[in-house]
Amino acid sequence: MNVKEAILARRSIRKFKPDPISEELMTELLEAARWAPSGTNHQPWRFVVVRNPEVKARIRGAAFNQKHLTEAPVVLVCCADLTPYARDTRRRIEELVEAGALEASSLENYPGLNQPKDPESLKKLAPHAMLNVAIAMEHIALRAVSLGLGTCWIQLMKAREIAEILELPEHLMITGLMPVGVPDQDPAPRPRVPLAEIIYKVVE
Ligand SMILES: Cc1cc2nc3c(=O)[nH]c(=O)nc-3n(C[C@H](O)[C@H](O)[C@H](O)COP(=O)(O)O)c2cc1C
Repeated sequence: MNVKEAILARRSIRKFKPDPISEELMTELLEAARWAPSGTNHQPWRFVVVRNPEVKARIRGAAFNQKHLTEAPVVLVCCADLTPYARDTRRRIEELVEAGALEASSLENYPGLNQPKDPESLKKLAPHAMLNVAIAMEHIALRAVSLGLGTCWIQLMKAREIAEILELPEHLMITGLMPVGVPDQDPAPRPRVPLAEIIYKVVE
């Protein structure tokens, strides 16, 4: 299956067969996440792989009782980790200088590079970190299609409650949930706005 085929075949799957998902398959999915692009290559995605039925049920309870969360054999809790932004930025900027994206002078004048980031300015990076996690999640969703698996993005959830259930540290921010399993439905394509509507303008 090529990328276009995977993009066109992907659906939000909300009915799953009870078939278990092997560790090898989960590794394939998480490898797809690992190769996602990320701003300054900080790679802030972290995943909790939930297979335990009781924990899945508690997560469902904190996600408006969405039943696909317990039907799927695996639920990925996809999180953004803010600590790489406190720790790795100098190394990441060096990488971008080596790649030719930034001038060497960036190592002197990149904002905040030469002093440690305080917790408040780290928190401000949360939307950026989550954006990167979203890209990794979509890599997972597309790789899953190519392996005959189904997924569904879930953001209707109480992130704080789920963080408590999983005893997550404060620096991990839940971006979304992703049930994974063998699809037990084959939904028709959902409506999309026409191409002409999404091209706001062409600037030539
Ligand atoms: C950020 C985001 C959040 C979503 N949250 C939920 C959700 O909480 N529950 C759910 O069943 N589907 C959720 N969806 C799936 C959308 O409803 C779905 O992508 C959309 O209706 C288009 O259908 P398709 O994915 O089958 O093409 C979410 C999708 C995205 C991208």
